[in-house]
Amino acid sequence: MQFIQTIQNLREVLEDSRQNDLSVGLVPTMGALHEGHLSLIRKSASQNDLTIVSIFVNPIQFGANEDLKTYPRRIEADISLAQSHGARIVFAPSVLEMYPNNKPMTLIRNAQIESLYCGAYREGHFQGVLTVVAKLFLICNPDRAYFGTKDYQQLFLIEKMVEDLNFNLKIIRVPTLREDSGLALSSRNEYLSEQDHLNAPAIFQGLEAAKKAYQKGESRVSFLIDIVRQSIELKKGQVQYIEIVDSSTLLPILDEIKGQTAVILVAAFWGKTRLIDNIELF
Ligand code: PAJ
Repeated sequence: MQFIQTIQNLREVLEDSRQNDLSVGLVPTMGALHEGHLSLIRKSASQNDLTIVSIFVNPIQFGANEDLKTYPRRIEADISLAQSHGARIVFAPSVLEMYPNNKPMTLIRNAQIESLYCGAYREGHFQGVLTVVAKLFLICNPDRAYFGTKDYQQLFLIEKMVEDLNFNLKIIRVPTLREDSGLALSSRNEYLSEQDHLNAPAIFQGLEAAKKAYQKGESRVSFLIDIVRQSIELKKGQVQYIEIVDSSTLLPILDEIKGQTAVILVAAFWGKTRLIDNIELF
């Protein structure tokens, strides 16, 4: 296992691998690795000769009032977890290494979707994500890159970027890993109080109840959204948004689901902790 902190050093190591025709998988993360991240790493290790896990808490995707300063950081533990689940390289650049001039002048945007859903409440967030992910793709030049469906809008935007800008790699979707309670694993779950942690599974329970109703024939968007809302509010969560969108365009479905694959996207707060989740309807 190699621990690498500079772009030049990583490029030198990857040049050697490429000469030996090794396939490369990339798993971008912000660290504080949990089982969800580890499932991405294992998947990459099973499909590639060499897996790179990047660990970088990307300042340009955090808003002014967000948790950049308090975001959990534990690089030593992350390195050993990444290694034991199949990573061959951990790439953990400094902020200066990635952004020598502070915020870059060149940013990648999605003109259509970046300001909807999560983007409506997190200005500049997806620009920051797309820009750092594009940089990581250009630095690592992987054959495959692994992302979780938990961050559904992020995954969609990255897939579109790859398509629109002709990145020569394949995005692999990895399903959301959950606690037994149904709560999606997230580095931000650590912020929840004990009581809120007991209540937060209401997000997924609501999503599952809506999916069941859809499977029984309920296709009215407002009705399905209400099921999710009630589940969250009953357990003292505060809904930020619930939207039902077409999975192929990520545009909202307004009145009724008519055969297209739909996804329910939700963000909700317990206390100051913001959690997101989603479910595909089929
Ligand atoms: P981070 O939140 O660390 O997540 C890294 C990857 O792990 C993402 O692809 C995310 O979808 C996936 N992931 C998170 N929780 C998961 C779960 N419970 N099950 C399966 N996969 C899960 O997302 C980011 O970092 C950043 O925005 C990043 C893409 C690294 C750009 O900075």
